Amino acid sequence: MSSSRAELRTLTRQRRRALSDAEQQQAATALVQQLLCWPELASCQHIALYLTNDGEISTQPLISALWAREKNLYLPLLHPLVPGYLLFQQFTPDTPLTLNQFGIGEPVLNCSQICPVQQLDLILTPLVAFDAQGHRLGMGGGFYDRTLSQLPSDRTTPVLMGLAHQCQQVEHVPVEAWDQPLRFIATPEQVWQFD
Ligand SMILES: Nc1ncnc2c1ncn2[C@@H]1O[C@H](COP(=O)(O)OP(=O)(O)O)[C@@H](O)[C@H]1O
Ligand SMILES: [Mg+2]
Repeated sequence: MSSSRAELRTLTRQRRRALSDAEQQQAATALVQQLLCWPELASCQHIALYLTNDGEISTQPLISALWAREKNLYLPLLHPLVPGYLLFQQFTPDTPLTLNQFGIGEPVLNCSQICPVQQLDLILTPLVAFDAQGHRLGMGGGFYDRTLSQLPSDRTTPVLMGLAHQCQQVEHVPVEAWDQPLRFIATPEQVWQFD
């Protein structure tokens, strides 16, 4: 019998939390190399990513590498007026940060720095579990699914890429109708492409 979404979340969250500090650092460094070798990065100028929590692969080295290449970065924040949706706000080394209700770092809201989601070239999403078909299981809030459902499904941008440790791969993620498909998943070992 295949595992439920809740069981898979528990399994992969435990696996990634069990990684040592050294393993986490190696993984984060290797992930940067995967992204820098990814041919489509050159055509992505406006890139959304997120601040790591709960054993997720650290995005900090990636953030530094992308700033060094003069990419414009954006972070999600919980929409203050429309529950369940995300906004994306410009992220520079000077951006004031705070913790949201889930204990995840996000920028302090500055309306003049919000970027409409359709103007992003690439959105790097967190995930809890994935499979070889590109199915994504998030933390269970559906925030990315809901926010991205506003975009036409036949669009070319923003491209969606999930980031994960290799240990977050499972045999099969049961998908639901509302789950937004990923075009790519990057782990420290490889970049997977799904069409
Ligand atoms: N486009 C949407 N509109 C309304 N609710 C949505 C939408 N997408 C997802 N949801 C809701 O979000 C909840 C969590 O979705 P789920 O896919 O399990 O979370 P996650 O993607 O974080 O793993 C579900 O109950 C689902 O009904
Ligand atoms: Mg989902």
